[in-house]
This record gives sequence, C-alpha cells and structure tokens, in this order.
Amino acid sequence: MAEIKSIGVVGGGQMGSGIAQLAAVNGITVWLHDTDAGALTRALSSISDSIQRFVSKGQLSQEVKTEALRCLRCTSNLEDLASADIVIEAIVESEDVKKSLFVQLDKIVKKSAILASNTSSISITRLAAATGRPQQVIGMHFMNPPPIMKLVEIVRGADTSEDTFNVTKALAERFGKTVICSQDYSGFVVNRILMPMINEAFHALYTGVATKEDIDTGMKLGTNHPMGPLELADFIGLDVCLSIMKVLHAGLGDAKYVPCPLLVQLVDAGRLGRKRGIGVYNYNKVSKETKPSSPRL
Ligand SMILES: NC(=O)c1ccc[n+]([C@@H]2O[C@H](COP(=O)([O-])OP(=O)(O)OC[C@H]3O[C@@H](n4cnc5c(N)ncnc54)[C@H](O)[C@@H]3O)[C@@H](O)[C@H]2O)c1
Repeated sequence: MAEIKSIGVVGGGQMGSGIAQLAAVNGITVWLHDTDAGALTRALSSISDSIQRFVSKGQLSQEVKTEALRCLRCTSNLEDLASADIVIEAIVESEDVKKSLFVQLDKIVKKSAILASNTSSISITRLAAATGRPQQVIGMHFMNPPPIMKLVEIVRGADTSEDTFNVTKALAERFGKTVICSQDYSGFVVNRILMPMINEAFHALYTGVATKEDIDTGMKLGTNHPMGPLELADFIGLDVCLSIMKVLHAGLGDAKYVPCPLLVQLVDAGRLGRKRGIGVYNYNKVSKETKPSSPRL
C-alpha cells in the first residue's frame, strides 16, 4: 500500500483523541468517530489545548496547529470513515464490543484498508477472525498520552501480513515513535509486566502494607518510576486496568493475574480515576496530598 493519506479513529476518549492529534499534526486527514457526541466535543477541545501547549513551548508552529485543526474532522457517523486507509480503534476494552465494531468497519471501509486496534490486551487474532480481512488486522498499541509517549507496541495476529505490518510500522515512525513488536499473547509486552505490578500495589494497599502515598512515593523514589503505580492506575483508568487483569487471567490462566478485590470494588463504585475526578486519589479536592502530578499533554 502507498503512504497513508487518511486515517479513521474510533473512540474519542483519552487514547483516541491523542491518536487523532498525532495524525492531524502530521498533516494526515483524520476522521474521529465516537457514539457519544459529548466525547467528540471534549476531544476537540483537549486536542486544541494540547497542540497549543506544544506551540507555547516552541515545539510546534502556529501554522502546524492551524493545519492540524483543518485536517481533523469529528463525526458520529461511522460511514464517514469509508475513505480511510487505516482505521485505529480506541473504544472500550471489551472483546465483544471491539469485534462488533470490526464487523461493521469491515463492511464500510475500502478493501485495501487496515483495521488496527489500540487494545491493551485483547487477542488481535480473535478480533481479526471476526472480519473478512484477517491479514489486514493488526494491534497498534499507543501509550498514554499518545502525543507524548515515545513507544508504539505493534502486535501481529496469526494472519497479519508483512505488508500490513510494514505500513503500520511506517506510520508509527512517521509519528516519531519507536516501535517494539509483540507476539499476540494476552497483555503483549508492556501490560503483561505493568498490570501485575499495579495489581500488586492494590494488594499492598488492600492488606494495609502501607498508605497509598507511601506506596507511590516508595516506587517513585525507590525504583525511579516517574509516577507511583496507584497514581498511574488513576491516570490509565481503573476500569481499563481491571479489564486488562481479567484478560490476563482468562488468557494466561494463572491465579497471579486475579484482580485485587480493592481494584474491583473501586470500579464497582464508579471511582475510575482521573477521568471521573476520583479513583485511588480524589482529584476534586485541591489539596497537595490528594493531587499527584501527571504528565501534561
Ligand atoms: N487509558 C490508557 O492508559 C490506555 C493506554 C493504551 C491503550 N488503551 C486502550 O485504548 C482503548 C480506549 O481507552 P481509553 O482510555 O481512551 O478509554 P476512554 O473511556 O477514555 O474512551 C473510550 C471512548 O470510546 C467511546 N466508545 C465506546 N464504545 C464505542 C463504540 N462502539 N463506537 C464508538 N465509540 C465508542 C466512548 O464513548 C469513549 O469516548 C482501550 O482499548 C484501552 O485498553 C488505554
């Protein structure tokens, strides 16, 4: 396939909006779709604010910002993605919902188009098998926040073609990212290692080993992590962390992947982290101890 000229992004939450931003600042036409119109409004405003911060720091020009916003089109009609060369989905971390989306996209997009998933853990092979183009389905796993984080983890399904891999890798590199490749096993590389650590931090809190602040400070100062595991869980979204632990447990079958009851309970309570204003920490209070720092887009 020739160079990517048009991208569809499905899901305008924290990941989808960041991926759409990357495409737009690289001068690629991007259709951003979400079923929730409010999510599209929030995405547009967060993308514009984020690009402005790059401009204010002298990392992007005003012209790039103007051109990027011109390249970006928001839509609640999935059919608008028909002309895309590649569609990257960043919707909820649910295998059934992602499969049903891929079945729809398979009918809408052109024959040559690639269907990529930003899934953190779900089998690319099974998503691919739901479509009539398994050789053109691939995992393209961006890190959060996509405009800042340098890594893209590319996951080949059982039938992913070499051409699909090469086009996807070239796109990630055009975005300025470093690519690592993973086999298609639950959690791939990054979350296979990261999520059990986050789950263990919840166990440490649950069993009273230490306070949340001491757990986070311990890992920041003791192991040189930029964020503590509980802060990071709030940043990722506790619902996303829980879904990934469930996928690791189901896919790898080891009891060490059973989600910590405290993580389950916080998700049940709707305390999903920063995106809801409360998770392990409460971001609605402006007190120093309850408001850890985070990378800014
Ligand atoms: N949060 C992270 O740190 C992170 C990092 C890497 C990958 N991911 C993965 O990215 C994906 C999205 O995560 P997120 O944190 O951006 O979630 P999010 O909750 O911020 O956003 C998800 C968006 O998808 C929309 N959506 C849900 N179902 C849809 C559908 N059928 N069609 C169109 N839009 C739909 C929702 O309205 C919402 O706006 C997940 O698969 C997640 O595992 C997340």
